[in-house]
Amino acid sequence: MSPVRAVVCNELGPPSLLRVEERPDPVAGPGHVVVDVEAAGVNYVDALFVGGRYQIKPPVPFVPGTESAGTLSALGESVSGLAVGQRVVVSAGLGGYATKVAAPAGAVTVLPDVLDAPRAATFTQSYSTSLFALRERARVQPGETVLVLGAGGGVGLAAIGVARALGCRVLGVASTEPKRAAARAAGAEAVLDPAAAPVKDSARAWAGGTGVDVVVDPVGGTLAEPSLRALGDRGRYLVIGFAAGPIPSIPLNQVLLRNRTVLGIDWGIWAMQHAGDQRALLEDLLAMVAEGAIDPVRPAQYPLDDVARALEDLVGRRTVGKIALIP
Ligand SMILES: NC(=O)c1ccc[n+]([C@@H]2O[C@H](COP(=O)([O-])OP(=O)(O)OC[C@H]3O[C@@H](n4cnc5c(N)ncnc54)[C@H](OP(=O)(O)O)[C@@H]3O)[C@@H](O)[C@H]2O)c1
Repeated sequence: MSPVRAVVCNELGPPSLLRVEERPDPVAGPGHVVVDVEAAGVNYVDALFVGGRYQIKPPVPFVPGTESAGTLSALGESVSGLAVGQRVVVSAGLGGYATKVAAPAGAVTVLPDVLDAPRAATFTQSYSTSLFALRERARVQPGETVLVLGAGGGVGLAAIGVARALGCRVLGVASTEPKRAAARAAGAEAVLDPAAAPVKDSARAWAGGTGVDVVVDPVGGTLAEPSLRALGDRGRYLVIGFAAGPIPSIPLNQVLLRNRTVLGIDWGIWAMQHAGDQRALLEDLLAMVAEGAIDPVRPAQYPLDDVARALEDLVGRRTVGKIALIP
């Protein structure tokens, strides 16, 4: 049997400090399973964990990686309803950047055949966040207009797919032509280069002059205020993340005007506090995938040993869509 290889964070800092090391084989303790990992999803939050910049700070050494996909290879005592050999996605919290990961049985979900490991490994966080934001928080209705910022990024592309599946029209905003092409391919009706056209006026014109119904914002920065101003009556602004860095300040009169609402989206904490609801939401998403209502984005694939480059490309704004590490 080949030894387990894992990316290890021995000291907090830039991704270049990460090392790939051999580790003991994980054991499936009571209520736990072991998954042979075929692909691990790379997320912004992984870079925050590794840099010690996330609100949760695990003690070093730790193995990063919050989501992965593969095959069940061992079941611990009292695990029921699962079988060795099933293809699953794992929301492990940590430990996903490895050839094997142990996790509580409740953290795995059986995959439909249509989803291969790289797409499955990069699916849970972005698509769950988007469905939670658009369906549970914004309560979007068919025919509503949705402005998606960072439309060529992981959350942005997922939000486009989910918004379309819920019957909405989408305008995507992205900084480069490859990102805009990806947004179009994911289902955006129109795309916008914020360097070439003013976001507020362009978005309002696209929505028929009245303003958009919903803004999906995983970016923040200088696009936040013009996007808020692009909202029409009772428009909803979904605050998801701050990939651009600085946290924007907004003039509150822009919330009062037109009876707008700003909604915070903390999917991670919601999923932890409402594990049963998150399972149901993920089952809904997988059913949408199986029906063909959403077609999860195919990620770029990097070898596990290229973990530093993967994280640097992600935070350096160079990726289109998602990255999967292949152990
Ligand atoms: N609230 C939640 O529950 C939740 C869940 C998942 C993710 N998030 C957060 O959402 C954010 C985006 O995640 P993601 O997976 O979509 O990331 P991503 O794939 O890297 O996409 C982020 C996009 O932000 C834009 N951007 C603008 N300035 C940037 C900069 N200085 N550096 C990097 N990107 C910049 C880029 O688009 P352009 O080049 O087109 O501007 C990029 O495509 C992260 O902060 C993440 O932590 C939050």
